[in-house]
Amino acid sequence: MKKIAYINERIKRYNKKIYVPGDKSLSIRWILLASQAVGKSIAHNLLKSEDVISALNAIKKLGINYKINKKVCEIYGKGLNGFNFKNNTIINAGNSGTLARLIFGLLIKSKNQIILKGDKSLSQRDFSRVIKPMRIFGQNIKSKNQKLPIKIKGTNYPRPINYYENKGSAQVKSCILLAAMKTPGTTTIKSIPSRDHTEKLFKYLKLPIKISKNKKFDFLAFKGIKNYKGFNYSIPGDISSSSFFIVLTLLTKNSKILIKNVNVNKSRTGIIDILKIMKAKIILKNKKNYNGEEIADIFVKSSNKLKSINCPVKMNSRSIDEFLLIFLVCAKANGVSKFNNIGELRNKETDRLKFANKFLNKIGIKTEMTNNSFKIYGNPKLELSETYKIEKFDKDHRACMLSFITALSLGGKWIIHDIDSINTSFPNFISLLKNLGAKINWIKKI
Ligand code: S3P
Repeated sequence: MKKIAYINERIKRYNKKIYVPGDKSLSIRWILLASQAVGKSIAHNLLKSEDVISALNAIKKLGINYKINKKVCEIYGKGLNGFNFKNNTIINAGNSGTLARLIFGLLIKSKNQIILKGDKSLSQRDFSRVIKPMRIFGQNIKSKNQKLPIKIKGTNYPRPINYYENKGSAQVKSCILLAAMKTPGTTTIKSIPSRDHTEKLFKYLKLPIKISKNKKFDFLAFKGIKNYKGFNYSIPGDISSSSFFIVLTLLTKNSKILIKNVNVNKSRTGIIDILKIMKAKIILKNKKNYNGEEIADIFVKSSNKLKSINCPVKMNSRSIDEFLLIFLVCAKANGVSKFNNIGELRNKETDRLKFANKFLNKIGIKTEMTNNSFKIYGNPKLELSETYKIEKFDKDHRACMLSFITALSLGGKWIIHDIDSINTSFPNFISLLKNLGAKINWIKKI
């Protein structure tokens, strides 16, 4: 039985403290790195979402065992050359672009072939971005039009590479770093800055990564290593999941929220900086170091004086997963907001630029979209009263959750399909909304 949500009431004012689940990027990275360690690794607060379960299933298929319960996850790594699997083993990455792209790196020396598959959305996404550098390392890759399913086989003699990563993609950068780990010699990457969790995890593990930066680029150098030991790790709350609650609170009259223990790594907090430029009231409290990452409690108050933004391009990769929410705030802000160089949004779980354009027009907001830019004509008086149906969004979890936030903050009657997509990243999203007082009804569908 599939559920469809029906919302016809805004959320009432609230003043609450919440915790969001563990960060998705860090959960997947921990699993992949623990699978390469020697001996037992333990993680606390691992996100238990479909993308993360796909990562656990993947390492299991590659011969690595794990145990998971409510509190912890244990992975029993066998070292850098510890994978053991039959030729043509199938790995299904489900909806997870991060898993599918990073796993290429771990398979750089695999003796047998893997067939990498994904769901409908992942099968439409671009893999040329990882195929290109991995072939330079010497990996054997067979694909039709650079999309899944893809056959991957490693090489006995990977060669270190010098690569220019020009998309600001953390997935590409991390895939290269994982391959570099198993490759003798020094691999170097010049990259447009993007989330740096893999680098921070390497430092936490005391692996010899060298990092320097100038205004435009990050420069990484990493020399192949032998082995490292199993490790304990605690995963902080996910800023991308927190963002739904940041925006709900901003747009709900007389409300306040405190979101505890969130990862506020600089490479992820673009949404906070953007919303602050727009005059949102957001304060980071109790900042501290947490296993090499930075965490804080995020305090947000509702705002009715939001102003438009001409978004600095350097914010793009720092807020890449939050643009749908940022666009919603722009719809309610005074003035015209402008975004440039945001074509990467077209390469996410769905074409998010196209989705945002349709979505904002549906709720009465004028927009102008080109291949790589977006303009939003804000309306601070925006209130909704019509009926809105959200379906056919390629089951993009973030598009689905955006619809909930819009319904609960701006009103109208909303029928939202494919609710299961939320399990990709944030399984308790709806129960957290209900804790704040949201009224959500269900229409059942066989
Ligand atoms: C991620 C990187 C980003 C982001 C994705 C998670 C990661 O993708 O959109 O949700 O964990 O490395 P790109 O690397 O394609 O920008």
